Amino acid sequence: MDDAADDLVLPHGAIAPAGGALAGRHLVLGLTGGIACYKVAELARLLIKAGATVQVAMTDAATRFITPLTMQALTGRPVFVDEWTSQGGNGMAHIDLSRQADGIIVAPASADFMARVAHGMANDLLSTLCLARDCPLAMVPAMNRQMWSNPATQRNAAQLRADDIAIWGPDSGDQACGEVGDGRMLEPEAIRDAVIAWFTPKVLQGKRVVITAGPTFEPIDPVRGITNRSSGKMGYAIARAAANAGADVTLISGPTALPAPWGVRRIDVETAQQMREAVQAVLLTPDRARSVFIAVAAVADWRPASAANEKIKRSDDPAPTLAFVENPDILREVAHGPNPPYCVGFAAETNDLDTYAAEKRARKRVPLLVGNLGHLTFGKDDNEIVLFDDAGRHPLPRGDKASLARILIGEIAHRLAASASPSSP
Ligand code: C5P
Repeated sequence: MDDAADDLVLPHGAIAPAGGALAGRHLVLGLTGGIACYKVAELARLLIKAGATVQVAMTDAATRFITPLTMQALTGRPVFVDEWTSQGGNGMAHIDLSRQADGIIVAPASADFMARVAHGMANDLLSTLCLARDCPLAMVPAMNRQMWSNPATQRNAAQLRADDIAIWGPDSGDQACGEVGDGRMLEPEAIRDAVIAWFTPKVLQGKRVVITAGPTFEPIDPVRGITNRSSGKMGYAIARAAANAGADVTLISGPTALPAPWGVRRIDVETAQQMREAVQAVLLTPDRARSVFIAVAAVADWRPASAANEKIKRSDDPAPTLAFVENPDILREVAHGPNPPYCVGFAAETNDLDTYAAEKRARKRVPLLVGNLGHLTFGKDDNEIVLFDDAGRHPLPRGDKASLARILIGEIAHRLAASASPSSP
C-alpha cells in the first residue's frame, strides 16, 4: 500500500503524515525488574495505538514481574530476553535491534539498570542493546524513594543525563512498598506523551503559547450556574501539541474532567472574568508580541447580572427570572490591545460556518480562525475543522482531535516563520 496516499497536504503545501503521532516509528521498549512492569503492558498498547511498532526486550528480573507472553501478545512480536538466543538473521540480536530502532525506552528503569548503563556495562541483552545503540535512549525510573534519593543513584542519573540519555520522572506519591515519596514510575499516558514529544520537531522552540480551553461556569448562586457543553478536549490537545513542539505552554482552563497534559502549566478558572484576568496576567510580559494566543475556550457570552450569596430557595413565589450582562470578549480584547500576540480564534457554529467565521475573524481581528460545527463535535474525540485566513478557507479532513491539533500547531509555526522571514511579502 502506498502510505503517502493517506497523507494530508496542508494549506501552505507541506505534508502532514497520516496516522498517529508515532506513525512509522519503531521503538524498542525495555523492561527491567520492578513492580511497575505491570503498567508497561498498558504503555505498549498506548504506543501502538499512537502508530508505533514496539519491540520488547526484557531483563531476566523483569520476567519475574510480567511474562514475556503478555508483552508478546500485546505487541504481536516475539520478546527478546536472552542475549545468547539467536533471534535475528545473523544471531546478533543486540546489533539488529538497535539498528532498526528509532528510539529505546527503558520503563521501568531500575536503580541497578541505571547504574549499569551509566557505567557502560553490557552484561545482559538489554544493557548490551543500550550500549550498542545509535538511536536516542530514554529511561523512566521506578524505585523505592530511598533508592532514588541515594547519592549513588543520583550520581548515575546525572551521568546518564550528561551522556544525552533522557530521564523522564520519577513521579512522587504512593509507592508499592507502602512508602510515599519520589520514585514512582510516570503513568503510561505521561510516558506515551513524553515519547511523542521526543519525536516531535521543535517548531515552536522558544515560543510562549497561551491557550484558553473548556467551558466557563457563570454562577447563579453558590450551587447553580450556567455553562455549556465544551469538554476542553480540543484545547487540551492543542496545548499538548504545542508543548510537544517545544513551546512554553500555559493552559487557562475552565472546569473540565481532563488531566493537565504533560509539560503544560495549567491555570484553573471558572468564570469568563477569571479567565480574562488570568489571560491578561499571563500575557503581561515583554515577549507578548512574540507570543501566541489560541482562544479555544467556549466562553459564556453572558453571565447572570448578579449571583446570590446564598442558595435561592424554592418558594410559593413565582419562579425567579434571570437578568444577564455581557461577558468580556477575551480574544477580541487581546487582539485589539497593544503589542498583540499572534492570535488564533475558534468559531463553533451550528450553521452558515463560512459566513460567520469570516465575519468573526474580521471583527476580532485575528489572522487565523478555526471554524467547526460545534454541536457535532462537543465532547467527541474527533472533529472536522476549516481554517480561515487572508487567503480564504482551507478545510481539513475529519480527524481525531490530537492529529488536528498537531496540524494546527504546524500551521501556526509555519505562519510565524513566514512572517518573521525578511523575504515574506
Ligand atoms: O464570538 P464567539 O464566541 O463565537 O467567538 C469565538 C472565539 O472567541 C473563540 O476563540 C473564543 O475562545 C473567543 N471568545 C473569547 N471571549 C468571549 C467569547 C469568545 O475569548 N467572551
